[in-house]
Amino acid sequence: MAIQWFPGHMNKARKELSTRLKDIDVVIEMLDARLPGSSANPMIAAMTRGKPSLKILNKQDLADPAVTALWLDHYERRPGTRAIGLDAGERAPAQRLIAACRELAPGRGGLEKPLRVLICGIPNVGKSTLINSLTGRRIAKTGNEPGITKGQQRILLADDFELVDTPGMLWPKIIVEQGGYNLAASGAVGRNAMDEEEVALELIAYLMRHYPDQLGERYKIGEMNGRQDYEVMEAIGRRRGAMLGGGRVNIQKTAEIILTDFRAGQVGRLSLERPEEWVVWEKAAREAEQRLRAEREAHRLERQGKAAPDNPARAPRKGRG
Ligand code: G4P
Repeated sequence: MAIQWFPGHMNKARKELSTRLKDIDVVIEMLDARLPGSSANPMIAAMTRGKPSLKILNKQDLADPAVTALWLDHYERRPGTRAIGLDAGERAPAQRLIAACRELAPGRGGLEKPLRVLICGIPNVGKSTLINSLTGRRIAKTGNEPGITKGQQRILLADDFELVDTPGMLWPKIIVEQGGYNLAASGAVGRNAMDEEEVALELIAYLMRHYPDQLGERYKIGEMNGRQDYEVMEAIGRRRGAMLGGGRVNIQKTAEIILTDFRAGQVGRLSLERPEEWVVWEKAAREAEQRLRAEREAHRLERQGKAAPDNPARAPRKGRG
């Protein structure tokens, strides 16, 4: 699914971020605990490579706890990386967050060498809510309209602990198809950038495989076995009275119901990806991307009458001489 999403201000934010990074000791990346792989910004990963990193798996109240545990373990195995699960229900998150950052940069601290920590994440991941909770004030925007931005701001969490906030940021091209669907299902992508019916169908298909009981229970639509995702979608529409004239189901309305329910945790605590799944999706996407690039390059060279270096078979035929 192609998501049309890279407003100009995100480009600007990226440039600002790259300037800021020089002075930063630890990078906190806030991820959505229901979709940690999909909500990790590959652009930020490339820009912050080698920096100590704290992954916050936020909104863990909405995610499957067993899957969140797998993700925490997955990140903790990476060198220079710590991971914690969090949600807005935690009353005093500052202590855990500060302790994890200090552990990651033991050489920093004290007034001489204050710890400088950058916090970033995709729109809607809950960053403003967390910052408000850390500071005890409402200082950052909160809201559900992805992409609303503000300049970076510095927040002192302790005398020697400075947090640099950044605007919520997506990236120009989402190459993992399932990642695009999951971001859209979570609400990180604006409504006009996606097809809700397609996103809801993908969501249903995943939930049918991994959480059939919760899905059946929520909508009282019985067994999932042997049914297609679109049949389940229609059954949900009928159950919820989303109908058009002539007994037809209003699919658009049904998609909205399903997405709203999922985002609010009404279907249960659900995760949309496991680490091992994500690794497979990402590898396949990278390989497909590489193939596409190679094909384009071969085509370009062919047009110019040259052979691609790794594909001599496509070299233009020489004359008999
Ligand atoms: P952002 O700055 O990263 O863009 O996100 P923000 O804090 O504005 O949060 C986006 C939405 O996610 C808000 O809901 C917020 O309440 C909700 N949220 C934040 N943290 C958590 C969490 O840990 N668990 C759950 N379940 N939700 C969380 P909203 O509907 O836009 O606003 P409102 O309901 O708070 O008014």
